Amino acid sequence: MRQQLERVRGTNDWPPLDARQLHDLVRALGDSFASYGYEHIEVPVLEHTDLFRLKSGEDILTKLYAFPYRGRDLCLRPELTASVGRYYVDHCQAAALPQRFAYAGPVFRYERPRQGRYRQFTQSGVELIGPEGPAADAELAALAWQSLARLGLDDHRLEIGHFGVMAALLRTLGLDDRARSFVIASMQDLRKAERGRAQVDARLDELFGAGAEDQPPDSADTTNTADDLLATLRRLVAGLDEQHARELILGLLQASHVSVGRTRSAADVADGLLRKLRWQDQAPGIRRALELAERLRSVRGSPPAAFDRIRHVLTDYRLDHAPLHRLEAVSTQLGAYGVPPAAVTVNLGLGRGLPYYTGLVFEIYADSLGPAQQLCGGGRYDGLLRLLGANADVPAAGFAFGVERVKLALDSHARPAGTPTTQVQVIPLGADDCAYAVTAAEQLRQAGLRVELELMGRGVKGTLRQAARRGIPFCSIVGPEERLGGTITIRNMAAHQEQRVALADAARYCQEDRVPAPADRQAGGVTATGAR
Ligand code: HAM
Repeated sequence: MRQQLERVRGTNDWPPLDARQLHDLVRALGDSFASYGYEHIEVPVLEHTDLFRLKSGEDILTKLYAFPYRGRDLCLRPELTASVGRYYVDHCQAAALPQRFAYAGPVFRYERPRQGRYRQFTQSGVELIGPEGPAADAELAALAWQSLARLGLDDHRLEIGHFGVMAALLRTLGLDDRARSFVIASMQDLRKAERGRAQVDARLDELFGAGAEDQPPDSADTTNTADDLLATLRRLVAGLDEQHARELILGLLQASHVSVGRTRSAADVADGLLRKLRWQDQAPGIRRALELAERLRSVRGSPPAAFDRIRHVLTDYRLDHAPLHRLEAVSTQLGAYGVPPAAVTVNLGLGRGLPYYTGLVFEIYADSLGPAQQLCGGGRYDGLLRLLGANADVPAAGFAFGVERVKLALDSHARPAGTPTTQVQVIPLGADDCAYAVTAAEQLRQAGLRVELELMGRGVKGTLRQAARRGIPFCSIVGPEERLGGTITIRNMAAHQEQRVALADAARYCQEDRVPAPADRQAGGVTATGAR
């Protein structure tokens, strides 16, 4: 029974100080986005599973919290880009472009939990709909980088790659659409060094090997081996377009009365064979392209030197340098936003876990958190909105922060653990002083201070001790003298000194956060008192 009442694995309870820091972070990031014209929108936590099935890919689907509910397939959102895309399609297609949206909220992914990797976490991000090209790409990457700099982080690094540039290079290597998508999707795995390459090779073998799915059909009286049959078919369909190749294979299957089994139609078998034949044509190109991606990854570094190294690699592969200019243009514009070149890593072999990206891709890491904990990820996804139902192709791009990871980076590096929530603790001396204590607390709150009223009847000593333990900077003691004189006594906890201050001056006194100096004792409205 107890087990069922425990917190769900991979989720967090955040105590007041952490909760407040997370809340402040979301607000600060939102302010940063607003300073670039991004307006906050809210979208549901619950979505139709199809929204993510359409393009978010297997990687996300295996991590979905999805469930059937009253005849519908629903899920908790694993990210917000698809939801914002749906929002645009539903509400904003008639409005002028560009449209800039910002958002923040919880997302859910079924992942193996560890430090900084949760099953429920908070994303805060933006989507820029309408503009394309290096200026729009640079705005996004710079905004992401600057938002962290504004929070006080100073060891973060922006890694940029470009799927559009990669696709153009792969096209000149002779790869068709599917093969290009395979290589680009595999770049994410290649970052796992040897283990990653082994995984990609295994997937390639699976696709090209004689898997049960695509085995040639059984035939009672044929003497051809599977390999012979495939080789013959391959010669026959070479040079034919998809439709003619499919018709030819289907015709051959039907003419030879081949049994295709009970579960698959002849058309399915023909499609499977054709797919396999086409893939086999692409195999050598794919292997070369994977090597290219690994080489490009190995020469990553800061601009401009990294671009020179990339050009050398492209020359080795006899590839045109022109597509690279798109990424160079982004990199140059980042400089105009004040992102230092040393904080930028150009990595043309950069892969991303989500398959909708088509152009610039980028990620941000902090040295203090290490390479496993990405703080931010994003990029351009020009085909997604059409896929989600937009009337026309609409360019779009964006990024999202993992807010808990941003907090971890700030905690471990740039900022001390954080300031306590409460700034002033008001302590009434007796029951008669309570009403005046409320008046004093309200006045301080109206001036913007965070004020707690002592309600436990603990007495001055006990409350002061507890306030000191919690790091509250000021305590305000309110007794008959203060009540009758319209004053309050403020104890500066760090300096162990008390001042009696006119109630009207109390907020200013606390906000200035000063340690009382002797001169203060003569200042108007402020009198020194002894400790009680
Ligand atoms: P993403 O890279 O999958 O991109 O996630 C964005 C950020 O969420 C990551 O950079 C990371 O900080 C954080 N994050 C991811 N998984 C976890 C986890 N299990 N625990 C804690 N934090 C995590 C997207 O979701 C895209 N929708 C970003 C985007 C917006 N692309 C274009 N527009």
